[in-house]
Amino acid sequence: MTQPLTIALSKGRILDDTLPLLAEAGIHPAEDIQKSRKLIFDTNHEHIKLVVIRATDVPTYVEYGAADLGVSGKDVLMEYNSDNLCEPLDLNIATCRLMTAAIKGYALPEGRLRVATKFVNVAKRYFAEQGRQVDIIKLYGGMELAPIMGLADLIVDIVDTGNTLKANGLEARDLIAPISSRLVASRAAMKVKHAQIQPIIDLIGAAVERQQ
Ligand code: ADP
Ligand code: PRP
Ligand code: MG
Repeated sequence: MTQPLTIALSKGRILDDTLPLLAEAGIHPAEDIQKSRKLIFDTNHEHIKLVVIRATDVPTYVEYGAADLGVSGKDVLMEYNSDNLCEPLDLNIATCRLMTAAIKGYALPEGRLRVATKFVNVAKRYFAEQGRQVDIIKLYGGMELAPIMGLADLIVDIVDTGNTLKANGLEARDLIAPISSRLVASRAAMKVKHAQIQPIIDLIGAAVERQQ
């Protein structure tokens, strides 16, 4: 019997784009994931299981080998920043941009900047590369509020349509990175379980090609 293989899916926006991609790859959950409270799902492939978890937890499950493959936003992977993970496929779904933003027309002060974000590690690295001194303020959501409330000069956040920035009187400033979701694996599993993992990567890779 083929050894079971588990794919960890990010719930939320990414899941909405992942399920059609898996369907294109011929991987169909045994029940409607969006309607279920379950976290583990069988599929039409006897050896493939899907688990649905918080987007920020996916790299952790994959790094520790609890899941064999994962679907993660590049933003989450940049923040997680592990050398033990690799990205065998760019799935080209849930595309958006990681950017800095500020109140429209606001002139940034000289010297230290206050930056509010949930992407603390990404922001630290980015501003260090820019040679800017910053104090990073960790938030868990609704970053757009921080400049309005005088908590921060800048935010680092996801921008897609720009509607959230616009609705709150902010403007995008600099692009940190274009974002899409990636298929993620651990380097160790790619070696040890190559024979099981590679066919799934090929299946999903072909579906990505067909979806372009
Ligand atoms: P969370 O509760 O973690 O914010 P989301 O459902 O908003 O969960 O999904 C977060 C992921 O989806 C991000 O890590 C990013 O990769 C992607 N994403 C977030 N916001 C957008 C957006 N507005 N448009 C497209 N993709 C997005
Ligand atoms: C995300 C992101 C921005 C918004 C960008 O927030 O953090 O606020 O989407 O999209 P837009 O440019 O199309 O407006 P989300 O809705 O996921 O809220 P959250 O803070 O709860 O993650
Ligand atoms: Mg969100």
